[in-house]
Formats: sequence, C-alpha cells, structure tokens
Amino acid sequence: MKIDGKPTRTIWLEADGESVGIIDQTQLPHRFVVAKLSTVEDAARAIKSMQVRGAPLIGATAAYGLWLALRHDASDEALERAYAALLGTRPTAINLKWALDEMVAAVRNRPRAERAAAALTRAGEICEEDVAINQAIGRHGLKLIEDIAAKKKGERVNVLTHCNAGWLATVDWGTATAPIYMAHDKGLPVHVFADETRPRNQGASLTAWELGKHGVPHTVIPDNTGGHLMQHGLVDAVIVGTDRVTAQGDVCNKIGTYLKALAAADNGVPFYVALPSPTIDFGVSDGLSEIPIEQRAGDEVACISGKTKDGRIETVQLVPDGSAVANYGFDVTPARLVTGLITERGVLKAERDALAQAFPERRA
Ligand code: MRU
Repeated sequence: MKIDGKPTRTIWLEADGESVGIIDQTQLPHRFVVAKLSTVEDAARAIKSMQVRGAPLIGATAAYGLWLALRHDASDEALERAYAALLGTRPTAINLKWALDEMVAAVRNRPRAERAAAALTRAGEICEEDVAINQAIGRHGLKLIEDIAAKKKGERVNVLTHCNAGWLATVDWGTATAPIYMAHDKGLPVHVFADETRPRNQGASLTAWELGKHGVPHTVIPDNTGGHLMQHGLVDAVIVGTDRVTAQGDVCNKIGTYLKALAAADNGVPFYVALPSPTIDFGVSDGLSEIPIEQRAGDEVACISGKTKDGRIETVQLVPDGSAVANYGFDVTPARLVTGLITERGVLKAERDALAQAFPERRA
C-alpha cells in the first residue's frame, strides 16, 4: 500500500542481494524506521521482538530467515537448526510453521550448492503469493461491504477491526483491511473503528497509522467501546484477521477478539474473519484446547509507550509497583460466533466441510 503516495511493502530483498529489509514496527506510529536482516539470528530476533508481526508477515520473515541461514551454511544440520530457531520465536500464528515447511520442502532434496538459491526463490514466491491471496480476500470482502453500502443508500459503512490485520501484518494489502482498502479506493464511504488493542496497541499505533497513510477515515476506540457502539447500531460489520483457524472453523486471534464476537452475536452484527489459507491448521480441531496461546512479558501490560508533548518517545509504568499482571497474547472465538470466513476462495461458513471442500490440497 502507499505511504505518502509511495507504494511500499513490509519486507523486501535489499539491493545488495544479501540481506532483507523490513519496516521496524516497534517504532511506529511516531517514527518510520527501516531495518536490515543479514542473518537467521536477525530474522528470529525481528519476529520475537515484534519488529515484524502479524501471522502472514511472520511467515514471510521466517522464510527469508531460512534463506539467510542457508547462505552461510547449506548443510542439513544448519537447515534443522535454523528451522528450530525460527519456529521457536512465536507459538500461535501457524503461518510461521507453514512457511518454514514450504521452505524445507523447496530445498531438502537439492544439492547443498543449490539450496540457498532455491530458498531465495521460494521465499520470494511466498511473499508474492501472500499479496495475491490478500487481493483475492479483498475482492470477496468488498462484495460484503458493497451489499451493506447498498442497503445504507450512501450512508457511511462502519467496520470495526481488532489489532492490526492490515498490510503491516502481511506483505501487502492486509487480510481484514484488504476489503476496506478496495472499498475506499472504489469510492465507497467506508469508515473504520480501530480497537486500540491493549497491551501492545497494534490497533492504535499500526492500524490507525496505515489507514491514515492511505487516507481511509477511521476512529481509534478503547477496547471496551465496541459493545456500546454495536448496541447503538454504529457498527455494520466486524472484520478481524486471525493467527490460526482450526479444521472446524474456530478462530484464534489477538486477545479481546472473542469479546467482540460475543458483542456482535448479541447485537446481530455480522462478524467476519479474513484469512489466507496458510492460516488454516487442518491438524487441529478444537481451538480452545489445541492451540498454544502465547504468554508475553508482563511489561507489555504494566507499561505503556508514547510520544510526549515535546516529541520524545517515553515508556511509563501504569500499574502499582508489585502488582501481578497477566499477558495472554491471543484468544479463541468458537466457530459458532463467526458469520463467515473471508478467504481467497470466497466467503465460507466457519464449518469443517466448507473449509475442507474449499482447500482440499491443504487438508491432505
Ligand atoms: O501479536 P501480533 O501483532 O503478531 O498479532 C497479530 C494479530 O493477532 C492480528 O490481529 C491478526 O489478525 C493476525 S495477522 C493478519
């Protein structure tokens, strides 16, 4: 998508042909900083520290990370070490494992001398595939927004989002935001309520930033506000992304998503989940018992960072000294609360048969 008119992606091969460029998302929204990854350790650190985050982008970064490892050592042992190091960075988003498995399949049966080149090719393809998938998600989701717009006869269409499932979470376009960008670009009066998304505030700092850069009208709301807005008819649809969808259609996404789904169900607001097929984990069924939920450092809850009036970035502590904090990164929304899954192959019911029929090759 565009930053001040300039088409930009979240990850790219640097001109030196030896390293990978990323946007350091820990610096947004107040500073736009680009970082360079030259080793597999750099890639693993970038994922773990959330310089890059969002399920599809985590996968793309891991793919390039494996290439960076193989550039230095193309042995089986190095491949296994890099796979394990990257896989261990974040436990919940399944795109990470998907991308690593794709990379291993692309290089495993090749002579060592060819492995790095094959890895680079596959990593580039994974990125291009992500962009194409998100565009297809956008086209299917656009129809949903167009239907709402037609019913509202030109009145503004309000979409509520949670966390950042925007282009910053992917290589480009985003998952939940792809339909929104397409609707906006087509001239539909779409407006986004962006949940701030404590504790790391990906909605306030990332979704708001990227929507603003593209010119999409939006309003940042505290996480607790969505239910109230829905009760007053101010939300036409919820569209969120996801880090893992199970074979039966349960949706794991950023902590707080489940509460939005409950509020949506109580108020008859459609609750859509936008996902690329690499986010489906056909190996698990019951999201609640089978998906590992990342628990992160307490500081993310206890403290908050922001810009002071004189332009400095500062971190301050919110809670009393000594208070215990809990930091669960994700929650699971049961399939029964999901109105539809917006995939690259259409809008599906959040049901086992619908997913299996749409993606038979993934199921195998
Ligand atoms: O912890 P993050 O920032 O990596 O989590 C990302 C999310 O949960 C997003 O909301 C998302 O929907 C998945 S990425 C498209």
